[in-house]
Amino acid sequence: MKTALITGITGQDGSFLAEFLLEKGYDVHGTIRRSSVDYRERIAHLEGKPHFHLHYADLGDSMSIIQVIGKVKPNEIYNLAAQSHVQVSFDSPEFTADVDATGVLRILEAVRQCSLADTCRIYQASTSELYGKVEEVPQSEKTPFHPYSPYAVAKLYGFWIVKEYREAYNMFCCSGILFNHESERRGETFVTRKITLAAARIKQGKQDKLYLGNLSSLRDWGYAKDYVECMWLILQNKTPEDFVIATGEQHSVREFCYYAFKHVGIELEFKGEDADEKGYDKATGKVLIEVSKDFYRPTDVVNLWGDPSKAKKELGWDPTKKTSFEQLVKLMVEADMKKVAAESAAEYVKTNLAEYLEKGIVK
Ligand code: NAP
Ligand code: GDD
Repeated sequence: MKTALITGITGQDGSFLAEFLLEKGYDVHGTIRRSSVDYRERIAHLEGKPHFHLHYADLGDSMSIIQVIGKVKPNEIYNLAAQSHVQVSFDSPEFTADVDATGVLRILEAVRQCSLADTCRIYQASTSELYGKVEEVPQSEKTPFHPYSPYAVAKLYGFWIVKEYREAYNMFCCSGILFNHESERRGETFVTRKITLAAARIKQGKQDKLYLGNLSSLRDWGYAKDYVECMWLILQNKTPEDFVIATGEQHSVREFCYYAFKHVGIELEFKGEDADEKGYDKATGKVLIEVSKDFYRPTDVVNLWGDPSKAKKELGWDPTKKTSFEQLVKLMVEADMKKVAAESAAEYVKTNLAEYLEKGIVK
């Protein structure tokens, strides 16, 4: 039985990867952080399973990393932990650098110090944000990097330090340059999830309007569940190499809104330009989407489009056989429609609980 250690197991990708590796028969270990609120929602269904284990560790704390790697002695490490929000990285640049840049170094050094450099394979969660102010469209493994946020600059260090340890110490460590991937488990402040939640809330009368930033930004959006398979494939490859993982299709934030609202039965019509652009309900003329400059970034990456040919050729991973853009939007909207309905039902019961208890409807 192989042993895997996943940092960032409580995140979107960590939770899907843990499920994937458990299904493959791995003994799965994950790192978590102490928090005053419950943040284990995405992995709650895995807790208590025989081959699922959690350990406290923080990427800012070398000692905790050395301790967990020395104890678990993993065959594979998936370093997914990061301050992963690009806009937040402008507000917390130092923390982002510590976790997303130096944190990667801490993992690599811990593996060496635990004498696991020859046996442990390491996957680093790299990102299409490295292309930033893009110098070529679409972007492949050969496209020059031009990071355009504190997050991307930190991740660029992570990319290069992984390459350095591969070349200097002959370690099997690789970066997956993953383009945006989303799901029903996506954090609620990333644009896709913000849109699908708002579409569900607006449809169910729980929200009036959605405020967004740059509607013209272009992304190559895939489904997170399809992408975790690639992380594993990259570590099963004969040689340690870096791969672009993407769908090869590009859509705008505006288009994402259009399809998300379409799935709840609202046809949107956009009028106006830049900060004055608005999204109207075509049937009623009501404004449902407005632009707020609060969501503009000091430097914004606006043209991400990946070329996944290498992954297709060498790993046999074909995005055309995976979840399509429309399927992705639909599955996210459907999950949020259910979530909002469940929240409304719970709210209703809570408001009327005293009366129900009194009348004996609930005990
Ligand atoms: P996510 O949902 O934000 O999850 C991030 C994970 O990192 C969480 O488990 C979080 O733990 C953990 N973490 C944050 N700071 C930490 C620290 N100091 N020490 C230990 N753990 C820490 O992100 P995701 O979407 O799953 O992405 C996974 C990785 O892929 C990230 O490295 C991200 O930068 C990268 N990536 C993501 C995408 C994408 O489109 N999703 C694309 C390219 C690359 P808490 O739950 O305790 O906060
Ligand atoms: N978050 C957010 N909120 N973004 C908005 C909004 C809004 O209200 N309005 C427009 N956008 C635009 C952003 O300006 C950006 O151009 C685009 O939508 C996508 O933003 P996010 O969903 O926040 O994702 P991201 O592309 O910045 O970063 C994600 O993908 C990277 C891979 O390219 C994260 O998952 C990163 O961790 C990951 O590396």
